[in-house]
Amino acid sequence: MCGIVGAVAEREVRDILLEGLKRLEYRGYDSAGLALITTDATTSDTRINTVKTVGKVNKLVTATTKAKASGRIGIAHTRWATHGKPSVANAHPHRSGDDIALVHNGIIENYESLRTLLKKQGYRFDTDTDTEAIAHLIHHYREGNKHSLLSAVKKAIKLLEGAYGLCVIDNNEPDKLVVARSGSPLVIGVGIGENFVASDPLALGQVTDRFIYLEEGDIAQVERESVNIWHKGKKVKREITTVAHQNNDSDKGRYEHFMLKEIYEQPKVIKDTLDGRISKTSVLEQAFGIEAPGLFDKVTSVQIVACGTSSHAGLVAKYWIESIAKVPCQVDIASDYRYRDIIVLPGTLFITISQSGETADTLAALRYAKKLGYVATLAICNVATSSLVRESDINMLTMAGQEIGVASTKAFTTQLTILLVLAIVLGRRTGLKPAAETKLVKELHKLPSIIEKALGLKKQIKTISKQFSDKHHSLFLGRGIQYPVAKEGALKLKEISYIHAEAYPAGELKHGPLALVDNKMPVVAVAPNNDLLGKLKANLSEVSARGGKLYVFADESINFASEKRLKVINVPSCSEVLAPIVFTVPLQLLSYYVAITKGTDVDHPRNLAKSVTVE
Ligand code: M6R
Repeated sequence: MCGIVGAVAEREVRDILLEGLKRLEYRGYDSAGLALITTDATTSDTRINTVKTVGKVNKLVTATTKAKASGRIGIAHTRWATHGKPSVANAHPHRSGDDIALVHNGIIENYESLRTLLKKQGYRFDTDTDTEAIAHLIHHYREGNKHSLLSAVKKAIKLLEGAYGLCVIDNNEPDKLVVARSGSPLVIGVGIGENFVASDPLALGQVTDRFIYLEEGDIAQVERESVNIWHKGKKVKREITTVAHQNNDSDKGRYEHFMLKEIYEQPKVIKDTLDGRISKTSVLEQAFGIEAPGLFDKVTSVQIVACGTSSHAGLVAKYWIESIAKVPCQVDIASDYRYRDIIVLPGTLFITISQSGETADTLAALRYAKKLGYVATLAICNVATSSLVRESDINMLTMAGQEIGVASTKAFTTQLTILLVLAIVLGRRTGLKPAAETKLVKELHKLPSIIEKALGLKKQIKTISKQFSDKHHSLFLGRGIQYPVAKEGALKLKEISYIHAEAYPAGELKHGPLALVDNKMPVVAVAPNNDLLGKLKANLSEVSARGGKLYVFADESINFASEKRLKVINVPSCSEVLAPIVFTVPLQLLSYYVAITKGTDVDHPRNLAKSVTVE
């Protein structure tokens, strides 16, 4: 998704901006640009110098060097097209006249009416973007030089409907960045005699570890020596937070792709996620904060809201929460949740799950939910400083480390790990016996080593992946708690290999999708050793009878035998409760190797972004 970087300093800021954009590259983008206020060495006159390119940030680096762009104040942006195709014209920064340049994250919903209004005032539009209207609006409110940039921005944003994170420069005030946040995250990086702005603190890891997180509705004026913030017309003070580890793990090490590296990190990050949260025999629930136990005491039902892979984690958790804690659990897709009539039962805990903690739909659902009378809001998230965590009552952080591959892998399995811990915590209050808790906790301790073994399937999976490369469609089957695992497997395959993959509960086959099965259709099934195995086998026979080619990931203890048109891949044996996490790993490897065979851009699949900060 789009990324913003801004800087004002005594020194040259061009390379700071470019490095910031590189650090945001993993989020997905299609074009990039920067604007610097350059001072003429002889006359001391200033002018805004803009450079924009389509494609990767490296292209912008080359173009910026070629243009000899330099300056001590500037703004930069990576764009992920929403209004208008990826092109140099549509890339940010956007200009109004010679003096205003601005970068924007988010979507302005009323941009068409603003354009009409501004055209009547004589403004010409050169791009298809919603952002250009903001630049002209600010220019309009400057009324020549009658009003300051800050007051023009304050006036302009009153007219904006939708979401924005803005950073603006003005050649008439060549020492200021003016920023505004509403629905799209922005932080100010605090330096010594220099200050910075970014949509994600990660972008500024090379220059500072001190950040001010702007709140919804904040406007700030950032100068070399000062940061002033206003909220609802009043000047406010915001705390400076020190954020360690501003490293973007940008080293793939011995791996060809971040996705593969992240798949292989799973034993470690699952262990990190469990560290300090479980003892040898029980869950240490104080690890989730002082208020957490008191809030958990009140919970009699659960509502989970998330998007994409994170929503699949929620679907798995529903089974655990209902079977271990005996607490009813409902799961909604965040983008739909706030557009339906919600009936909140007393004692309902509202849970969001998100890797980034900045997903616009999930954040909007949280904000909506806060008005509905839930007992508390809990964020399960991978980014401690994210908006989701900061706006929730309590949080349970996954310790996956930064996930760069657009296809989520280690974030998912750590989400599942923490959700299983949560089911135990809730279960304690609803009759889960200490012995049963100990049994589950002992299973959790085994998880990293079982995942390690599952990674050993790589070679076998690599071989069978070749059989998928000429396919256009595939089916993924699972029963019960494994159905969301099949959904996750299908999502991974379609995301990075572009093969259409559909997941079905295996029992639903005969109600429609069986019509799709012929000898060209690969059918992938997950078969753990549980009570539904007999029924699953019957469903698989329905596929075999129609000539479908089956790939069955089966618990090795079942001794499922391969046959003609039925390939069994033995997965390390594990308990039923761990199976959703363990069986996810071979499906990740399958999608990875199919994508490799097809030669797609695994870490940056087409049309997708890592962090979806627009609705
Ligand atoms: O950061 P989040 O977990 O909130 O992101 C939600 C989805 O956008 C994300 O899981 C997406 O589906 C992944 N690309 C899946 O691999």
